[in-house]
Amino acid sequence: MESISELESRLKARPLPRHVGIIMDGNGRWAEGRGLPRVEGHRVGSDSVREVTRCARRVGVEALTLYAFSSQNWARPADEVAALMDLLREYLLKEREEILGNGIKLNAIGELDKLPKYVREPLEALRAESAANTGMTLTLALSYGGREELVSMARRIAEKIHSGQLEPAAVSEALVEALLWTAGLPPVDLVIRTSGERRLSNFMLWQTAYAELVFSEILWPDFRARELVDCLAAFQQRERRFGMTGAQAQTLPFRRKSS
Ligand code: FPP
Repeated sequence: MESISELESRLKARPLPRHVGIIMDGNGRWAEGRGLPRVEGHRVGSDSVREVTRCARRVGVEALTLYAFSSQNWARPADEVAALMDLLREYLLKEREEILGNGIKLNAIGELDKLPKYVREPLEALRAESAANTGMTLTLALSYGGREELVSMARRIAEKIHSGQLEPAAVSEALVEALLWTAGLPPVDLVIRTSGERRLSNFMLWQTAYAELVFSEILWPDFRARELVDCLAAFQQRERRFGMTGAQAQTLPFRRKSS
């Protein structure tokens, strides 16, 4: 079997996605399958977060966005929500050195004001401390929903029009992008969902318009560097056409600035 560094070197020889989004699914099933409490799946899933983030940075992905807690996840049993919040806090405190030491910029998207203070505080601290870093941008989607993000963007546009700062005719794709929570991030090239489910589940609905979707059967706690490499290799096999013909797409520069 090829070593992980050999596999990573092979990947680096071809164009990589600039921005990868991951829907980390299957923690509950992983735990239940072992007769463990669901929370145990989330705990081991945090180790996958560490390993996958390291691998993405090593191969040169510019931006990695992890769907860690959706707007809809608040409806889960209170003890599971509390355990996830505890894990997030623990992650932010424990990973501080690794993030800062590797030049990673930590970012977050979502209705962050809904997070408890004991998560918001270390999140904001690390966000501020890492803001000038120019390595990979790691975005945690927390209390995040794509529809909620679109509503927030629409509200901001309506406010600008209402106050006379903006003409309706000046509303453009570029303006919408600038008012989304993901403003400034590269376009999403690849979305990975683990655990065999084939849905977007409210994840970056606008941003994924031209993203390649790769579905892995592996449950998130078992999804590590090797599995990420497999998904990146699957992406490299895809032909991206952006609405054009196959022949036209051959002439496209791969790293398009916007999709
Ligand atoms: C979905 O699996 C996963 C989540 C709702 C939470 C993801 C959280 C982590 C991976 C750990 C904490 C995050 C960080 C960034 C440290 P599920 O519980 O819906 O799985 P199931 O479909 O098998 O029930």
